[in-house]
Amino acid sequence: MSDTAAPPYPSPRTEGHPLDPPPVLGRLRERAPVSRVTLFDGSQAWLVTRHAEARQALRDDRLSVDSRTPGFPFLSAAQTEIRDMPPTFPRMDPPDHSVFRRLLAPEFTIKRMEALRPLVESDVADMLDRLEAAGPPGDLSAILTLPLASLVICRLLGIPYEDAELFQTRAAVMTDQTATPEQVRTARMDMLGYLQQLLAHKAEEPADDLLSRMVAQEDEAAGVSRRDLVGVAMILMFGGHETTAHSIDLGVLALMENRDQWELLRERPELIPGAVEEVLRHQTILETGLPRIARADLTLGGVAIKSGEGVLVSLVAANRDESAYPDPDRLDVTRPVTANRHLGFGFGVHQCLGQPLARIEMQVTLAALLHRFPDLRLFKEPKELDFRGQMAVYGPTSLPVTW
Ligand code: HEM
Repeated sequence: MSDTAAPPYPSPRTEGHPLDPPPVLGRLRERAPVSRVTLFDGSQAWLVTRHAEARQALRDDRLSVDSRTPGFPFLSAAQTEIRDMPPTFPRMDPPDHSVFRRLLAPEFTIKRMEALRPLVESDVADMLDRLEAAGPPGDLSAILTLPLASLVICRLLGIPYEDAELFQTRAAVMTDQTATPEQVRTARMDMLGYLQQLLAHKAEEPADDLLSRMVAQEDEAAGVSRRDLVGVAMILMFGGHETTAHSIDLGVLALMENRDQWELLRERPELIPGAVEEVLRHQTILETGLPRIARADLTLGGVAIKSGEGVLVSLVAANRDESAYPDPDRLDVTRPVTANRHLGFGFGVHQCLGQPLARIEMQVTLAALLHRFPDLRLFKEPKELDFRGQMAVYGPTSLPVTW
């Protein structure tokens, strides 16, 4: 197969606007729902770019998340570092995966998360005070969105907030597609060492937090070992941090670029929950496709996928599919995107565990910004900002705003 038939993946956004998916994804989606792409090591995988096929793939149990399976589609040399490691639950298939979802589900109910809303509101208010004191202009990402996401997840898990920086620096290395395998290994070992000590402490002196409750349910025989729980802690820190912060950053950027939508939200704040869903669709932050490996032959979008072939489900592409959303490139806060129709949180058994929390953080921050800084403006154009283009989680490295 020639290179044009299987373009390199992932491709950076250099060709188009930083708030829009790389144009090649649109071209592939127009041509076929599932296409061949070439990965960093010259191997090929299937890339799913249409919405219907993305949903179909994510709920097909013949597509496994087990990264130890030969042929698993890694996206960089750094990522291959996880190949031989014992998997954490996002890289397990049912029934092993279900053990952890059952354990964690009660911790992330909408009711439990809603109880955190007042605390998130007061955190956001404090951080906006800091922003106001610092500027104008001020870096929204450094003063508000990253610290907020970090504080909220630390508090939920029972991790001292003073230790958050350790996570931020290590997490940045571990999601950096340009990091060497050695750098990724060192960052991972630092985090695991820290979490092992923390869980040992929680086993001895339990507190009213998620990690203490998890340690209390440790049960080797039931498939929940201390090592598994260290993995759970790491995944939650990871999953809950940059994702939420960058979704807010990109939401603010997109609303500033579409000023009419910002003004509409000022007039009608009741549209904010819908606007958050639209941001999650329009500004999908998981830049690279969700990786799966076929463990049986299957047909997807008319394409025959053989057992042992890699599949990447591009949420970025699927969320801009015009067969699912009319005028998909337009940010429209009144669009009737129901909570489970967009794919910003994935789909199927691995759908985001932390979505009720992420929604609250996004809704509260947006509401507070609209109220406190109705005249908010970007201090730099999106094209002048640096984006973490080669990272798994897309977002600006800083977000200077003025008011
Ligand atoms: C706007 C913010 C967020 C976005 C866009 C997001 C997106 C996603 C997506 C797309 C997946 C599916 C991955 C896959 O199928 O391979 C996922 C899974 C996951 N997310 Fe999130 N996430 C966000 C916030 C959070 C938060 C706040 C937490 C934790 C507090 C969290 C924890 C997780 C976990 C544990 C999984 C793995 C679930 C599993 O495999 O069963 N996420 N997330």
